[in-house]
Amino acid sequence: MERSLKNQVALITGASSGIGTGIAKAMAESGATIVVNHSSEHSLESAQTVANDIIKKGGKAITYQCDVSQETEVVNMFQDVVSQLGTVDILVNNAGIQKDAKFTEMTLDQWNAVINVNLTGQFLCAREAIKEFLRRGIDPAKSVACGKIIHISSVHEIIPWAGHVNYASSKGAIRMMMQSLAQEYGAQKIRVNSICPGAIQTPINTNAWNTPEALDSLLTLIPYNRIGTPEDIGNLAVFLASDLSDYITGASIFIDGGMTTFESFATGG
Ligand code: BGC
Repeated sequence: MERSLKNQVALITGASSGIGTGIAKAMAESGATIVVNHSSEHSLESAQTVANDIIKKGGKAITYQCDVSQETEVVNMFQDVVSQLGTVDILVNNAGIQKDAKFTEMTLDQWNAVINVNLTGQFLCAREAIKEFLRRGIDPAKSVACGKIIHISSVHEIIPWAGHVNYASSKGAIRMMMQSLAQEYGAQKIRVNSICPGAIQTPINTNAWNTPEALDSLLTLIPYNRIGTPEDIGNLAVFLASDLSDYITGASIFIDGGMTTFESFATGG
């Protein structure tokens, strides 16, 4: 039973900031070689900083630019990574965006942008990852599983979110993709799970925590009374990628300080 991620290659999409960076660093500390995926030229420098930080601490990392919503780019990324690093053992489908708008004012572009990255991007990467897992087969020196996929979903796969219908729809759909994949590939020893973060202090939700008033209002939604950190998510991702969680597949794991207990009902209802 392998507790670490030693000698495993973890491809983490959207790893140049936020939760993706937290997962990249945590998995690198557990021994994985990290592919720090980033979407554009614009995020190259921060991706390089993440990779350099990992290397400085004795870990292994490369950066790879690819927009996960583009089929050819995703196919090329997997081919290149496999030829450079041998295989992919762990996929963390993390890249995600928000384009918030009141529903009647939401443009088709805002809808498509979010669905293309958050949902189609996870589909394309999962498809290429599973093809690679099946090609390689189980390597018992590394893990008892043939491969692991971790979808980064959200509490909004079950909490409806007014003003964010595109985002909540993408996350609700990820739950069904994840569970259907777990069902389809369980017999091949491929584990597929989702991490569902609540409010984590990252650039995607700066407005929710960057003033004392915003933070106070956010904390009324979190029984545990603190905002989450990328490290919190990194720790869970390492566990879900390791053999310690070998009997977990098809699960959505909420990591939210209790947000999904719907705290407003503590004094109402
Ligand atoms: C969203 C954040 C939000 C959090 C809790 C996340 O999925 O990306 O913007 O703060 O859910 O509502």
